[in-house]
Amino acid sequence: MKNSVYFFTGTGNSLHLARTIAAGLDDCEVIPICKDADLTIPPGRDRIGFVFPVYYWGLPAMVADFLRKAVFPAQDNSYVFAAATFGALTGNALPQVKRLLRDKGITLDYGAGVRAFANAVSFYEMKKNVDKITGKADKRAQKLVEAVAAKRRKKTGNGLRQIEKVYRQNIRQFAERAKAYTVSADCVSCGICASVCPARNIAFSDGKPVFGNHCEACLACIQHCPERALNDGDKTQNRRRYTHPGIGYKTLAGYYRANE
Ligand SMILES: Cc1cc2nc3c(=O)[nH]c(=O)nc-3n(C[C@H](O)[C@H](O)[C@H](O)COP(=O)(O)O)c2cc1C
Ligand code: SF4
Ligand code: SF4
Repeated sequence: MKNSVYFFTGTGNSLHLARTIAAGLDDCEVIPICKDADLTIPPGRDRIGFVFPVYYWGLPAMVADFLRKAVFPAQDNSYVFAAATFGALTGNALPQVKRLLRDKGITLDYGAGVRAFANAVSFYEMKKNVDKITGKADKRAQKLVEAVAAKRRKKTGNGLRQIEKVYRQNIRQFAERAKAYTVSADCVSCGICASVCPARNIAFSDGKPVFGNHCEACLACIQHCPERALNDGDKTQNRRRYTHPGIGYKTLAGYYRANE
């Protein structure tokens, strides 16, 4: 493989973008950032990329942790890029990547946000016009794909101190987030929720999901449940569900299984 693109996702926007980038490069593997991900970045890559959603104007905890612990090959001179999918504001997500890489002596050559479908169903009713929004996101992605293929460079700023504080307060509570999730009588014990959980935070007891305390708040379980049996407390019962139209649960689960 000449290129490697890592992704973290809940509802598929970031995996879809990672696959789009990979399709625009000659020879590229797409690798999940999930529980027990291999922390060794393979040597000899032309390009190494990281694609993830923005959470509270910053990085998903698992992505930050991966970048903190990842072992990069020495003196490889790979082109390193990052792409953040987001609904409204990227905030400090890209500056956080820049800092985490800089701590390892790696330069972030190119960082960009790609506006996508806003998926945070716990906080609001999501939009109806999925095809229009995901179509627009695809168009925006083309610019990024061209830039990465051409190994263009773009400076990433240092971010804002004020929003870093909000991010840190919120991200700390995420691990326990799924403790508020409820399972209704509509659950048919299909196991899909567990298969799409990047944190392997879902076990089963008497055929029903039970949540641990390693949640990433990615919402994959709630959004992918075919019976709408999972909810965030009493907030989501009457709200729509969303997953990227190009990324079904089988595709997502396939990446996690391959990593086991
Ligand atoms: C817990 C949570 C927090 C989020 N915070 C932000 C945010 O701060 N800014 C923003 O623009 N979008 C935010 N979003 C929306 C996602 O970043 C956006 O929908 C993203 O494309 C989802 O990617 P995915 O489909 O790969 O999971 C948030 C979503 C979740 C689930
Ligand atoms: S995805 Fe939904 S129906 Fe399937 S096991 Fe999970 S909660 Fe039950
Ligand atoms: S329990 Fe649900 S929200 Fe939490 S990490 Fe797993 S799939 Fe995501």
